[in-house]
Amino acid sequence: MYKYMSLSRAARLVGVKRGALQKRIQAGEIKTFEGELLIEDLLRAYPDTELEDSTMLEHTNRIKDRAVGRIYTENAVLPSSETLNARVQQLAQELAAIRQQNEQYAELIAQLKEKLQQADNIDSTQLRQWLDQQLEQPATVQPAASKLVANDTLLRLMTAHVRILPSGHDFFVEGASSLLEAGLRAGLALDYACSNGNCGKCKARLVSGEIEKIRNHDYVLSEAEKANNEFLMCCNAAVTDVVIEAVEAHGVEDIPQQSIDTKVKKIQFPNDHVSLLHLKTPRTNRLRFLAGQYASLRGDNEQQATDMSIASCPCDDMNLHFQIPRDHSELSQHVFNNLKPGDVIHLRGPAGDFVLDEESFNSLAFICCNTGFAPAKSLIEHAMALDIAESIHLFWITADAEDRYLDNLCRSWDDALDNFHFHPIDSSLANASESGAESYNVMDIILQKLDHPKDYDFYVAGNTAIIGACKASLLERGVSESQLKVDNLNHE
Ligand code: FES
Repeated sequence: MYKYMSLSRAARLVGVKRGALQKRIQAGEIKTFEGELLIEDLLRAYPDTELEDSTMLEHTNRIKDRAVGRIYTENAVLPSSETLNARVQQLAQELAAIRQQNEQYAELIAQLKEKLQQADNIDSTQLRQWLDQQLEQPATVQPAASKLVANDTLLRLMTAHVRILPSGHDFFVEGASSLLEAGLRAGLALDYACSNGNCGKCKARLVSGEIEKIRNHDYVLSEAEKANNEFLMCCNAAVTDVVIEAVEAHGVEDIPQQSIDTKVKKIQFPNDHVSLLHLKTPRTNRLRFLAGQYASLRGDNEQQATDMSIASCPCDDMNLHFQIPRDHSELSQHVFNNLKPGDVIHLRGPAGDFVLDEESFNSLAFICCNTGFAPAKSLIEHAMALDIAESIHLFWITADAEDRYLDNLCRSWDDALDNFHFHPIDSSLANASESGAESYNVMDIILQKLDHPKDYDFYVAGNTAIIGACKASLLERGVSESQLKVDNLNHE
């Protein structure tokens, strides 16, 4: 067949995680050329691909949408007719180029036959007969490769592929989303601030492909910037596959400190010990953060601010979720006793380095205790958006089932996602004893579920005792320090 494709597109077509594909490339099982791979190599590596069954793709997307929030389904409209038209034209041009190439080959063969006929010193008759026989053979069609190309063509009509330089990160733009929305949704830490065409922070440069402006902006691009193909990602969508140069955060040090007056959208009390707080930022002042970080919150009166882990995904930067435990802090008292929808919560942040190691292709294990589920939830949703982890295990330790206030959410992830495994652990059922022995017992339960702990990155969120116990157990089993990240919920 004829072409190379990006890793993301290839993973999508054969229905595997991009991380799984990258692992096989690293192991030398699949060759790549400038970050792309050949369809034949892809099919050789995944011979059992169910190409007839596009439900896999739809299924994965549906689950992903459900998992990372409703915002996407609201935006998931079809591309505009102009965009579809441009994509059809691009595909038609590619088809025309391939036809032309075929005609050239046919012409070449005709010329070859003619030359052979004229040659004196070789047995041209035999060669001509051979060539005729070959040409009479029906063209070798590889059905699997043809179907893969057909599926790819359909995908290209509905989505545009974006590659970012210099990082090489890539993502798809679906529907009429802006490049910024689609990039954030894919879990990328693109540079931006207002999302609204005012600040100019999301400026990028178009290297190739076609984009279209989908909203006007107040930020004024200079003539030099326009001549250099610069544009705002929050105000433009991709018409065709594009390559852009854009700035991305490489770590927590690249995320600015922000102060935002948010409004309470909803408060829920799933049990006596925890409240689920949903805050909404103003449209033009959203919180930029990395999954797993925390922010400082305080009510409208001069209460003392309290650090709380953000329990939602950075891809939905207007809707921030927190899980507030009932304790003696002023924030907790305020949330449990006074707070109501519409009230203001002052937020400052983000902070903390309990963030995903995106350079690692290891599977992921999250071990959390009580409200340690908050940063774990943010990280899991982010890992789902990135779509890189081959396997994700969540161990949620609470005294009993009653205390797992979002048990249903975890079970729905487990039901819907092939690579997600939820392991609730009741510490009251473990052979508890005094002086931390309980934690070691819990670690035995955890390690029984993981065949090869050394193949995982571990993210542990909880109190000092559980963190200490996990560290000791994992290091003893050969897990290296670099595979272990911890979040002490007191944010000490
Ligand atoms: S994010 Fe401010 S202009 Fe795009």
